[in-house]
Amino acid sequence: MKIVITGGTGFLGLRLARQILAHGVATAPSGKKEPVDEMVLFDVVVPDKRPEGLDDRVKIVAGEIADEKAVSALIDRPDIGVYHLASVVSGGAEQDFSLALRVNLHGHLHLLEAIRKLGSKPRYLFSSSVAAYGGTAMPKRVTDQTKQTPQTTYGMTKAVGELLVNDYTRKGFIDGRTAKLPGVIIRPGKPNKAASSFISAVVREPLNGVDYVLPVPLDLDMPVAGYRTVVSALEALFELDGAKLGDDRGVNLPNLDVKVSDMIAALKRVAGDRKLGKIDVQPDPFVMSIVSGWPAHLDAGRGESFGLPKDKSLDDVIRAYMEDYLGK
Ligand SMILES: NC(=O)c1ccc[n+]([C@@H]2O[C@H](COP(=O)([O-])OP(=O)(O)OC[C@H]3O[C@@H](n4cnc5c(N)ncnc54)[C@H](O)[C@@H]3O)[C@@H](O)[C@H]2O)c1
Repeated sequence: MKIVITGGTGFLGLRLARQILAHGVATAPSGKKEPVDEMVLFDVVVPDKRPEGLDDRVKIVAGEIADEKAVSALIDRPDIGVYHLASVVSGGAEQDFSLALRVNLHGHLHLLEAIRKLGSKPRYLFSSSVAAYGGTAMPKRVTDQTKQTPQTTYGMTKAVGELLVNDYTRKGFIDGRTAKLPGVIIRPGKPNKAASSFISAVVREPLNGVDYVLPVPLDLDMPVAGYRTVVSALEALFELDGAKLGDDRGVNLPNLDVKVSDMIAALKRVAGDRKLGKIDVQPDPFVMSIVSGWPAHLDAGRGESFGLPKDKSLDDVIRAYMEDYLGK
């Protein structure tokens, strides 16, 4: 079968691609696990150098998800499975409303429509976000049953995407599922335009010996999960029997319930005698205007009941990052 990952050269897309390739099989529309003989990573940004760990089953296709023709060309065989990860992220969507609609709504519809025309009802995984919750009536701890009244354009596009996945599934066009992601840590490299990028930078920059200006207060609560665990959860949710999900295909991913100060304490524990960069706390009004509207705690009881993986501790997550990216 063929696997398509949109946003496939992004942080999670590439790691997911390597993991699926390593497993070598995925559940096809037939309901049987089939060997993955073709994989397409579709992304508007294609790195100059082919990323490591991709074998000759993988084709990297440069393209824009808002380009209907480019998207339908990806959906060219019935035995397919799709992970839709391409997205304008939170800060970017708040700064450019038209772009957010074009990419996150119209792009998503192009993909779903191409699959509907295919007629084989493939498995389809959409990555939503904790940012789909929001509003003054939102409880501090949100659950899979909490009403979604997002207060950002990014969150709105994710909430709409979840409803699309539910309805395309109800109509029998796809076998869809939505993973609602907490903040994923620790993103390597440079910060992206996500308003949540501090959750990675607060660990990554000091570990690299770089001083860091933290744009949120230390006592901010934030549900987080390590990228290894999130990638495994995405694959596990794709592989889950759709009948277990029923008519609501959205699932909160298991996460750790932490404050920013807990992350800094874990960093100090794990770093040992490594010299860390200093952290200076200076809340930033733009970041706070977005982040303060997100839920403090994300209940993932439903995802846990499906056996989706959960991190054991922040210390383990930081150790994994050091192993993967710092060679420690
Ligand atoms: N990382 C997190 O903390 C987090 C949290 C919640 C939700 N998510 C969601 O998970 C998914 C993956 O996130 P990530 O951390 O890998 O982000 P990322 O920014 O690294 O990856 C997203 C990819 O989408 C691509 N993309 C953007 N616009 C596109 C377009 N118009 N056409 C084609 N490709 C386009 C980008 O180039 C990028 O490679 C996204 O949908 C994101 O909203 C991530």
